[in-house]
Amino acid sequence: MNTYRIGIIGCGGIAREHARAYNKIPNTKLVAGSELDAERREKFAKDLNLEKSYENYNEMLKKESLDIVSVCTWPKGHCDAVIQSAKAGCKGIMCEKPMATNLYEADQMLSACRDNNTRLAIGHHHRFDPQLVKAKELIKERAVGEITLLWGHCSLDLMNNGSHVVDMINFLNDDQPAEWVMGQIDIRNKRQGYVNHPDMYAEDMAMGRICYKNGVRATVELGEFAPQNWQFHIIGSDGIIDVNLPDGTPLRMMSKDTNGWVLPKLDPCDPREEEMLELIKAIEEKREHISSGQIGRNGLEIIMAIFESSRNRRLVELPLDIKDNPLESMMKGVSQ
Ligand SMILES: NC(=O)c1ccc[n+]([C@@H]2O[C@H](COP(=O)([O-])OP(=O)(O)OC[C@H]3O[C@@H](n4cnc5c(N)ncnc54)[C@H](O)[C@@H]3O)[C@@H](O)[C@H]2O)c1
Repeated sequence: MNTYRIGIIGCGGIAREHARAYNKIPNTKLVAGSELDAERREKFAKDLNLEKSYENYNEMLKKESLDIVSVCTWPKGHCDAVIQSAKAGCKGIMCEKPMATNLYEADQMLSACRDNNTRLAIGHHHRFDPQLVKAKELIKERAVGEITLLWGHCSLDLMNNGSHVVDMINFLNDDQPAEWVMGQIDIRNKRQGYVNHPDMYAEDMAMGRICYKNGVRATVELGEFAPQNWQFHIIGSDGIIDVNLPDGTPLRMMSKDTNGWVLPKLDPCDPREEEMLELIKAIEEKREHISSGQIGRNGLEIIMAIFESSRNRRLVELPLDIKDNPLESMMKGVSQ
């Protein structure tokens, strides 16, 4: 059995979750971390018993012969860290969401990983949540008939929690391509450096309508006035499935064939550990991760399309032909 040498770039909050997951997997060894902040770097190395820690990730990549790298920096750092890790010969990269801050960066990341035969995965770990996996199974079994509407909402902005919400909707719709998007955002407070994205702008509220090529439609609602938990409603021709109810119920469904609500049985798992195990399988089986870079790009394209729709006050057809982030120009008061 191969033992994979692991390194982490950006040793903040989410890096500890990555470290926890790797430490559960017998054939991975977390050997090094790279972090700009000296105090954080030393504490992370000490707490996790790392052999080495670095201020500069290029030095770590050069010296440590890493097989897998987790990219856990703030969003603007994801692109370069992924490209340099791929060029350094890493077999797999787990890059945190949002994949990148615009489609230009995402395309550069995909191309570097393709050129260096590196499996790129994006940290949308909710794809492994038991209730999401079960909901998708129920959809496939047509337990609620033909799906007509997927509705997802959460706190924070589109590039933060919204990245998960859009990805989960894509997952529930079997990663079918989107045809058009309409959206609106509220930028009352011109937020910059919001929560754990100090390097980005963030809208206060966002609404998006996504029409998929298979006819399914989705609505996403993010921000301070949206219902605050990761809640999803899946509306079918013969019933409804609810995911993550405010009272803590993870999943319930009702259809023309049930006598009221039923609570499907779930298989518990650790989604973070699953996303790392899946990366190892993707490397060994020479295939894409369930949350591959391309799938991450699909979600990012939908988010950029919501911003673009708001910038131009019109419906936006996909594929999107812009490579900038329209939120940035809207925040700067520039309308293209
Ligand atoms: N998947 C999830 O559920 C989830 C949850 C939380 C955060 N995240 C994502 O993870 C990323 C980081 O979030 P966080 O909460 O850990 O933030 P954080 O502020 O706790 O940690 C980020 C760390 O990266 C370091 N860093 C920045 N640039 C660097 C560089 N060039 N080299 C080395 N270190 C660098 C910072 O100094 C900081 O310590 C964000 O993209 C965020 O959206 C994902």
